[in-house]
Amino acid sequence: MADRRPVRRRSPREAEPPGMAPRRAALRLIDAILRRGDPLDVAMHAAAQGLAGPDRAFAVAIASEALRWMVDIDALIDGATAQILPDDVKSRAVLRIALAQLLALKSPGHAVVSTALPLVDGGPRRLVHAILSRAQQEEWQLPERATLPLPTAERWAEQWGLDMVEAAEAGWSVPPPIDLSFAAELGADEWPDAVPLAPRQRRLPRGQAVESMPGYSEGGWWVQDLAASLPARLLGTGEGRTALDLCAAPGGKTMQLAAAGWKVVAVDASAKRLERLGANIARTGLSADIVQGDIRAWEPAAPVDAILLDAPCSATGIFRRHPDVLHRIEPRQIDEMAVLQALLLARAAKWVKPGGVLVYATCSLERAEGEDQISAFLKSHSGWSVEAPRADELPAAIVPTSDGFIRTLPGLLADAGGLDGFFVARLRAPSV
Ligand SMILES: C[S@@+](CC[C@H](N)C(=O)[O-])C[C@H]1O[C@@H](n2cnc3c(N)ncnc32)[C@H](O)[C@@H]1O
Repeated sequence: MADRRPVRRRSPREAEPPGMAPRRAALRLIDAILRRGDPLDVAMHAAAQGLAGPDRAFAVAIASEALRWMVDIDALIDGATAQILPDDVKSRAVLRIALAQLLALKSPGHAVVSTALPLVDGGPRRLVHAILSRAQQEEWQLPERATLPLPTAERWAEQWGLDMVEAAEAGWSVPPPIDLSFAAELGADEWPDAVPLAPRQRRLPRGQAVESMPGYSEGGWWVQDLAASLPARLLGTGEGRTALDLCAAPGGKTMQLAAAGWKVVAVDASAKRLERLGANIARTGLSADIVQGDIRAWEPAAPVDAILLDAPCSATGIFRRHPDVLHRIEPRQIDEMAVLQALLLARAAKWVKPGGVLVYATCSLERAEGEDQISAFLKSHSGWSVEAPRADELPAAIVPTSDGFIRTLPGLLADAGGLDGFFVARLRAPSV
């Protein structure tokens, strides 16, 4: 589609159409994610500065849907242009966010077009206008399932098979439900509309503001995907013994451990994330010692009965909630994370009392950050063993692998809303 006619520029005094601020922010967000590799939540601070709550939420929704459907949106764009637009030109970015609004968020066409054109900024406005008009006239649709970026699909097919890739695409295409973890077991008549999938857990449909749900200020519950709640379940009840929660912020697992009677020491390197952990602990009225420390250098004063190491990772397992991940993470970062995880795991192992327990977890769908990590650990740590979870420690649908690990893959509990991709291993230290 040629675009040689002169571009009409908006005079600085000409008023912008309403609703530009969240669209501009969405454009900055996807630029920061795709060009600089920033995570969505980090990019949001800079991109959405000064935006009111609803505008900020709209900017994040636009960017998230543009990233979730990016492969399919790009295919539609490429099918409508005579020459393929380069990947990094502004017009493609504007079309990505405009088509995400039109096709995924179902925003009205006139609002999408009038807010897209000013963003092209001296670029091919006619081309953008023509593509958006065509999208409406021809009633373009997104496919039923959002296509994964090719490098991810290939990497996952190699590790887990094509069925997993299909299940991941299905899981990625619908917003995930909200899982709540509760500090105490619920009575039969509490939260009657929520689905229980595990003890002290309930699942709710997406779309409710968390802060307005019943009991938020009383602090009896916190948001935590069912898969993310599994590692702390493997430590059982604490009865006043000490557990180290390493890489603890923002504290979902700290709260589970504290609620299960552990005296928790929660350690994390990030002061900012520890602020959130502190706020979570305060809201729930639970207690934990909070320590800012880099566990490559920090160490506890004495060995402890139990350690939970929720290691930093590629986070490819939480791609449903963070659609930026699959566009940012490359094999090089997975390799770097695996090196760091091996280091942290070896350090943590030194701090477990003889016969004590170490739970290792990552929210990753990469074997290098899960299964391979533990098999390398066992080779270099004689006397340590894997202690497989018992059936009564897991939700019914989750069965340990033949190696005694928990591996949650897309497709599990699909009819109930699915769950995040996690790897968990419970390791028992030698007794002497
Ligand atoms: C997966 S998140 C932890 C989530 C947390 N366990 C929860 O359940 O809410 C990983 C955490 O590791 C922390 N981290 C990364 N490298 C670290 C290091 N060398 N020492 C301590 N914490 C680290 C990050 O700041 C981040 O908060």
